[in-house]
Amino acid sequence: MSTHLSSRRTATFVAIALAALSIHARADEHGHAARVPLKPLYVQECGSCHVPYPPRMLPTDSWARLMKGLDRHFGTDASLDPADVQALSTWLANEGRRTTGGVPPPEDRISRTTWFGHEHGHIEPSTWRLPSVRTPSNCQACHSTADQGQFGERSLRMPAGLSIRQRAAWDD
Ligand code: HEC
Ligand code: HEC
Repeated sequence: MSTHLSSRRTATFVAIALAALSIHARADEHGHAARVPLKPLYVQECGSCHVPYPPRMLPTDSWARLMKGLDRHFGTDASLDPADVQALSTWLANEGRRTTGGVPPPEDRISRTTWFGHEHGHIEPSTWRLPSVRTPSNCQACHSTADQGQFGERSLRMPAGLSIRQRAAWDD
């Protein structure tokens, strides 16, 4: 009985230690483990056409520009009412990556940041155009828990239809 209890205590301790680690990981600059709890309004409004991208993956000024141009959002109209724009802009300004100067990624895309290039450099370029992937913006094609803001190696999956060559590059 007492050993049972103490193992439960150990489990609780481990859970607390892991939670502390994940808070620590929020400071990471490179979008790794960028585990900010996602605001429900954000998931609802910014997670319907694509995954709700983790706020730490872009600098705050990129988020601000995106939020000002929602009526011309990558060829679509993603307009919201002013109260929602205000609430999400405030949240993104707090949770986005803070930068000291530096050039924002082209088109304010996560998929065109320098770190994204480094993390995905080994992928055969043609892999991005497979019907099962279509675009680098489609994180979910390869990161099965991208919708929950998790991009760790354990949730990686090979998209369907990889050629032998694409598969070899993937495994590198
Ligand atoms: C009506 C559909 C729609 C909604 C709603 C929408 N988006 Fe998008 N978003 C798109 C499309 C389409 C793209 C371009 C995808 C591509 O290039 O394949 C995109 C791309 C993006 C990208 C760049 C992805 C990359 O390549 O790194 C970001 C960041 C983004 N959206 C943020 C948002 C935010 C923030 C909201 C909520 C305020 C939002 N989106 C709501 C359709 C939408
Ligand atoms: C075609 C498949 C594919 C797509 C689409 C894709 N990724 Fe990845 N991603 C990978 C692979 C493969 C790795 C490398 C894992 C490794 O070797 O460590 C990776 C690594 C990462 C990592 C580093 C993970 C870690 O813990 O080291 C992050 C963060 C990441 N991707 C984010 C994204 C985001 C955000 C998107 C969408 C905007 C995206 N990825 C789209 C395949 C993909």
